[in-house]
Amino acid sequence: MQKLVIQGGKRLRGELDLQGAKNSALPILSASLLCDGESVFHNCPCLTDIYSALRILNSLGFKCSFSDNTATVKYNGICRSEIDGELMQEMRSSIIFLGAMLGRIKECTVSYPGGCELGSRPIDMHLDGFRKMGVDIREEYGKIICKVRDKIHGAKISLSFPSVGATENIILCAVLADGETVINNSAREPEICDLAGYLRKCGAKIKGDGESRIVINGVKKLNGCEYSIMPDRIAGATYLSATASTGGEIILKNACINAMESFTSMLESAGCSINTSGNTIYLRSGSCLKAIKNIKTMPYPGFPTDAQAILMASLLKAKGTSVFEENIFDCRYRHTDALIKMGADIQVIGKTAVVHGVKRLYGATVEATDLRGGAGVTIAGLSAEGTSIITGLNHIDRGYENFEKSLALLGADIKRTE
Ligand code: EPZ
Repeated sequence: MQKLVIQGGKRLRGELDLQGAKNSALPILSASLLCDGESVFHNCPCLTDIYSALRILNSLGFKCSFSDNTATVKYNGICRSEIDGELMQEMRSSIIFLGAMLGRIKECTVSYPGGCELGSRPIDMHLDGFRKMGVDIREEYGKIICKVRDKIHGAKISLSFPSVGATENIILCAVLADGETVINNSAREPEICDLAGYLRKCGAKIKGDGESRIVINGVKKLNGCEYSIMPDRIAGATYLSATASTGGEIILKNACINAMESFTSMLESAGCSINTSGNTIYLRSGSCLKAIKNIKTMPYPGFPTDAQAILMASLLKAKGTSVFEENIFDCRYRHTDALIKMGADIQVIGKTAVVHGVKRLYGATVEATDLRGGAGVTIAGLSAEGTSIITGLNHIDRGYENFEKSLALLGADIKRTE
């Protein structure tokens, strides 16, 4: 079993190039399934979830390769309509392949997806959207069997919540459909704009991405292209938080500044000084951060749920009391047990977490229970006294490329051991 061993207390300082966005790359790899010819993706992060997505494409008949942050996906005919249960279990984003498969071959059988356990993660909105577009769906022995009787047709779909995955899946199903699809109350996350940007470059007709109403006009055919994946705003938030919590300074290059604003403004409230120029963020932090009273996770452009554990970890020693409200997932405070073990003072009541700043954190052996929670406990380890050992690295490796190497580059004393 691999672990991270951290000697806390080092002030982080240096420059870092930000990785490509996992949550953009995954739906975009799925979208490549809709295209003839070849797609070449630059700035694709090297992550276990990306390998899972490429394995799914390979299993369906595509020819894929990956090296030096460039992924290539080549259409070679689709040889099957079922995605293996084991591949579906590897990550939550496996469900995004359903919309693309329906769009391309009008049938697909999948099982329920795996992924981080953040509470119940239903896919009812995805399936309701497909039904409206003419897909018959039945469930048998845990398998979801989807078939299109006649053809996939455009539809007006109103989401009861701006779900990122449902918005992406419906776009993927709609780009080759007959006629116009309108998604009302669509998610507005930057990664959805990145997906739409790639699909448009392949020939798709999509308008309104980044807004609450997306309109897709089906086309007959899409052709693969060369595309560069946007930077990862949550990985960016992680390195900024890690630096802030150690009183350090960082130049973060290749960042998506606008997409990170709801996060960087929080760090400013905590007392960090932040300057931006082009696609570079410069952060300098004092020795003690200030608590933040009111951090509510919301769909974009609100404060991202994916950054909740990360910001919390950097505020554990802040002066005063910080209050978090988690509004997206019903079980996204699992990291707090590990943080408390390290000396943090946190009370969780329902969707609220109250964090009273403490003077010191102490190194401990703790487990990463999900991806961002794992990043959070690592940040706590960096500002704790003594040695921390983090297990459960399979979660962290799903979303962070060269995690410990990047932190070590900034001056952290952190090593991966067997
Ligand atoms: C995406 O997950 C991200 N994953 C998550 O990032 C992120 O936390 C989440 O969006 C919210 O921003 C990827 O992009 C690969 P949702 P997704 O559908 O699409 C409920 C990370 O750490 N819901 O927007 O699964 C759902 O239960 C990850 O990188 C339904 O009720 O999120 C949740 O409460 C983890 N029915 C809320 O909506 C549905 O059919 C938001 O989920 C779909 C969702």
